[in-house]
Amino acid sequence: MLFNFAMMSTWNFFGRSIIYPIYLSPLRHIPTVLGCPLWGQTYTRLTNEIGVPERTWHEDLGPIIRFHLPFGTERISIVDEQALREINVRNPHYFVRPAQVIRWMIPILGERGILLANGVLHVRQRKALAFAFSPASIRRLECRFWEKGFCLTDELSGLLDCSLQEHGSDGCLDGFDWIQHATFDLIGLVSFDWDVNSLGSTVSPLRNVFAEIFALDTGSCLVQTLRLYLNFVKYLLCKMNRAIDSGSKVLKEISEQILPSKLKDMDSTIVSDDIISQIISQNEKLPHNHPDRLSYQEIKHDIMTIFGAGHDTTAAALAWTLDQLSKHPSKTNVEPKSKPTFLLSKTHAYPTH
Ligand code: HEM
Repeated sequence: MLFNFAMMSTWNFFGRSIIYPIYLSPLRHIPTVLGCPLWGQTYTRLTNEIGVPERTWHEDLGPIIRFHLPFGTERISIVDEQALREINVRNPHYFVRPAQVIRWMIPILGERGILLANGVLHVRQRKALAFAFSPASIRRLECRFWEKGFCLTDELSGLLDCSLQEHGSDGCLDGFDWIQHATFDLIGLVSFDWDVNSLGSTVSPLRNVFAEIFALDTGSCLVQTLRLYLNFVKYLLCKMNRAIDSGSKVLKEISEQILPSKLKDMDSTIVSDDIISQIISQNEKLPHNHPDRLSYQEIKHDIMTIFGAGHDTTAAALAWTLDQLSKHPSKTNVEPKSKPTFLLSKTHAYPTH
């Protein structure tokens, strides 16, 4: 008995962490970043800005590479366009999310939304969301972007003027907070027809929740990483665990508020053009026992998913765009007032999924 236990533990530790990834894994032929699979590239990834080590590895090893997280966990990083299209567009249901990632994201996104659903459930979700995310539906929402866009421009112009007064044209300004406020408002508006008013108010519990959960300082990343591997970590009394718990609560409460009112709106003749109304309206057209019909819980988790998936990603993309345009003004036909660079705070610069 004791012998069996010792053998099992040894296999679980060394076998899975070292022998499997090196000699048995079907992914072992993919160019792999050198290092011991037992702890993998964890240290490098924790101590560098997100994406920077990966960029170097890709330069050395090619567009599809393998690296390790602790205990032999394998990760594939892909920058090949064809491969990305295959995974994200053509056949996403074949590429299931790693179980640890799903476990980690469930409190924030709910397990039944499109992002965490796997296999046939994912195919079903995709079908249900296709109309609302189609180019035509998104184009109809275009005018909603302007209002918040102008508010953001005002805030950034204010920052720019202050920077010009203080530092002249060599100044650097960090507009990322305002950009995050704006994208948060936009996601609320276009997805739920709900004005979060993050730009207009200093207190925005929902935004604070996301800022804490997706904090990218080393301590926060460490807790997030440990949560992936050691179940008891989620019970520790630390800032990150408190942020995830309160974030999860806030998101559930908000989706509980949004969904019933949206369902009620379906009785009226004109359905709002926001994303969730469109999803519900398509769903309501299906008979109750139809296999493609989404449940209440699935739509609720889609609301949580859209908040999680749509806000920091767009903020990072917009911030990088402004950063690059400010460094290469010739690429835009807008005459810049000056030549400041939009300094991105290191802790916030990357998409969160
Ligand atoms: C520039 C901004 C964005 C970037 C870089 C981005 C990036 C991504 C990536 C990489 C994935 C695949 C994740 C995975 O399969 O694990 C994804 C999926 C997804 N994103 Fe985004 N995203 C952006 C904006 C948005 C917005 C604005 C929304 C919603 C309003 C959104 C909603 C979703 C959803 C629902 C999925 C799941 C799709 C599926 O599983 O089929 N994203 N996004």
